[in-house]
Amino acid sequence: MRIDFDPADLGRNRLYSLLNAVVVPRPIAWVSTTSADGVDNLAPHSYFTISCVAPPVVQFTSVGRKDSLRNIERTGTFVVNLAPEPLFEQINATATDFPHGVSEFDAVGVAREPSLKVAPPRVAGSPAVLECELHSTVRLGDSTVVFGRVVHAAVSEDMLVDGHPEVTRLRPLTRLGKDEWGTLGEVREISRVRYADRPTPEGGA
Ligand SMILES: Cc1cc2nc3c(=O)[nH]c(=O)nc-3n(C[C@H](O)[C@H](O)[C@H](O)COP(=O)(O)O)c2cc1C
Repeated sequence: MRIDFDPADLGRNRLYSLLNAVVVPRPIAWVSTTSADGVDNLAPHSYFTISCVAPPVVQFTSVGRKDSLRNIERTGTFVVNLAPEPLFEQINATATDFPHGVSEFDAVGVAREPSLKVAPPRVAGSPAVLECELHSTVRLGDSTVVFGRVVHAAVSEDMLVDGHPEVTRLRPLTRLGKDEWGTLGEVREISRVRYADRPTPEGGA
């Protein structure tokens, strides 16, 4: 037996909790931006994914209008920093609703490093970063989806095995429901089976 939930009956907060609890785990884009006044901003966003590979585009959603979104609209650039497990408390601390003129980098004590192709700084302690130029935005109700064209990627050398980022070294955090966060857990591998290689079903031709 299942319990049914009609989005129309739930109300915004319960709907938000339900969606966040069942769309899990979500990767976390730790988004750095710089305001028109030159203040560096940093905030985690878990409504985040790859939109397209050719061209390379990633997306995150600003629920409401926040500093990250405003800065990107003004400056047209941002950096997605992978949110690694060792920086758990710092990442959470950058989600505090600091006033517009306050830099989360400074308030929380997150070390910066310069980006190669865009103005906002990267997080020095993040193992992998994607430098992005604003591609477009889409308004959806109270939210705005931000699409960023990846113009540069950088991965710390010690995260690579045979030139490929190794997930057990990256140690990405994820967002779950409520105040829950996830760590990597068990990694399992299986190769995709082509239709032509499937075993002939019993009784089949
Ligand atoms: C792990 C985590 C994930 C979050 N994901 C989102 C998100 O996807 N979209 C969003 O609007 N806010 C998200 N938030 C909340 C923002 O980080 C928070 O509102 C922050 O203060 C926004 O900062 P800004 O105003 O400097 O952009 C998240 C918070 C945490 C801790």
